[in-house]
Amino acid sequence: MSYRVFESSSIAKDYALYRPSIPDDVTDAIIGKLKLQKSDDHESLVVDIGCGSGQFTQSLARHFDRAIGYDISVAQIDEARSQNQRKNFVLQNRALLYWLSNYKSYSIIISEYLLFPTLYRISSAEKIPLESKTVDVVAVSQAAHWFDFSAFCLEADRVLRPGGHVVIVSTIRKTLHHDDPVMETKINECNDRYMSILDTYRLVSHDDLDKFYINLKSHYPETIRETIGVNVQYSPVDYLNLTKTMSYSFKYKQNNPDGNLFEKFQKSLEDVMETGGGATDGRFRVTFWHDISIGQKGIS
Ligand SMILES: C[S@@+](CC[C@H](N)C(=O)[O-])C[C@H]1O[C@@H](n2cnc3c(N)ncnc32)[C@H](O)[C@@H]1O
Repeated sequence: MSYRVFESSSIAKDYALYRPSIPDDVTDAIIGKLKLQKSDDHESLVVDIGCGSGQFTQSLARHFDRAIGYDISVAQIDEARSQNQRKNFVLQNRALLYWLSNYKSYSIIISEYLLFPTLYRISSAEKIPLESKTVDVVAVSQAAHWFDFSAFCLEADRVLRPGGHVVIVSTIRKTLHHDDPVMETKINECNDRYMSILDTYRLVSHDDLDKFYINLKSHYPETIRETIGVNVQYSPVDYLNLTKTMSYSFKYKQNNPDGNLFEKFQKSLEDVMETGGGATDGRFRVTFWHDISIGQKGIS
């Protein structure tokens, strides 16, 4: 499946603001499952393919010498660059770095390794601009279903070092909860009502997405499959901001520029929270289910 739906800069900005990133402790749990081989011969490198505004790249980068986020959308890469938190070295050592960068032999090392230990680049998943056997981990979060997946697997295999890993995370599934069961039912009824409309704008049906991730196989015999649930508290307005970052919402807005579905959705949720009868602080719990699949390339 290959679509270009994350292109505009306002989408990229909303994405960075409202789309929940993979929490560091989920990243840490994933890394803990990899058989990473530390070597003095080379710096460890992770690449995050379809990185969007780069939150997962930043989280992964804490475990590697270098990290590169690739995305096909120029707007997403611009946003990721502006959010890049791993530039402290530059700020603290600016004078030294600029002085050194006058010397040609240092300039590449400085720009590629020191100024931006985490880099963002425009690239498709199907043709990654790296030499063969140079990457320790190829990671993908919430993006594999947009790729030409067979072409991506071949490319991941090409760039991975022997023993390297492919990590694919999907956060398609989320469930809504409230401590009060009556409120929980009402919140879900409201959500189902509006989602049944938005679902008709999906480029890929929910069932096809589910099937894609259930049947997903990397190039390698699968070593690990696991799901980690993460709870986040949402107010109706925050939940709608999240909903608006979904590709089906872009499609709804495109087809209905004057439509007020999101406003009505938010108002209905607010009404439920106010009049639902249960004790509430105006928020409900969303559990994001991170489905993780890890494959390892053979050593030889
Ligand atoms: C749902 S977003 C996920 C972003 C990020 N990984 C995250 O977890 O928040 C999907 C991203 O995949 C990118 N994308 C889609 N098709 C792609 C392709 N063929 N190659 C590279 N990136 C692609 C989109 O531009 C978009 O930024």
